[in-house]
Amino acid sequence: MPRKMFRKIFLVALCFVVCGALHAQTGSDKQAGLGRPASAEEVKQRDVTTLPNGAGLPDGKGTAAQGETVYRDKCAACHGPNGEGSPQGTQLVGGVGSLASDNPVRTVGSYWPYATSVWDYIHRAMPLNQPGSLSADDTYAVTAFLLNRNKIIEASEVMDKESLPKVRMPNRDGFIPDARPDVGKGSLSTGNGKNKKSQAR
Ligand code: HEC
Repeated sequence: MPRKMFRKIFLVALCFVVCGALHAQTGSDKQAGLGRPASAEEVKQRDVTTLPNGAGLPDGKGTAAQGETVYRDKCAACHGPNGEGSPQGTQLVGGVGSLASDNPVRTVGSYWPYATSVWDYIHRAMPLNQPGSLSADDTYAVTAFLLNRNKIIEASEVMDKESLPKVRMPNRDGFIPDARPDVGKGSLSTGNGKNKKSQAR
């Protein structure tokens, strides 16, 4: 191979190596230059996994009275002043006993089997436009508010990691265990809404 040609090939090869390395770098840590590492505080706020039996609930507490303020400021615009729902947010109060009817109304009171799951859902997902922004205290308080408006607890009852798991939801036994072997014994199936008879675990 003539020397000149060899040099050309060598330079082209070198170019590929350098370009490849540059590309790999921009691809890994400089991708589009977006984002930032999460702060310890942000990780702590989101690193909460709550099981139906209350395992994993963080410290904190709140009453319905405290929750009323949180609800008015952060929830009412979408869910209505009294949880009656609006085009922006689902109904959260009422509907007990309606699930097996032709017009089932699924709310916190009529549908959710565990108060702890309501807590977890709100803490994770609500307000819809700012998910994950509620403190543990505000989440206990607004959960207490919704339980109270659904006539499940008294206005004065303090909700915390001890009391919340003890709240018995009206539809607690309205679910049937999922019989599929790959789903696991503890799983609950929602059935088709017509399972009036309960099979408590
Ligand atoms: C911007 C509108 C908006 C705001 C603000 C908002 N929500 Fe929601 N919320 C929704 C929508 C829409 C859904 C239905 C989401 C879905 O089905 O995926 C929902 C669902 C829920 C549910 C589940 C309802 C069910 O039975 O399935 C709960 C509980 C709830 N929100 C509580 C709250 C609380 C508490 C706040 C205030 C801290 C809040 N939301 C603020 C729009 C909103």
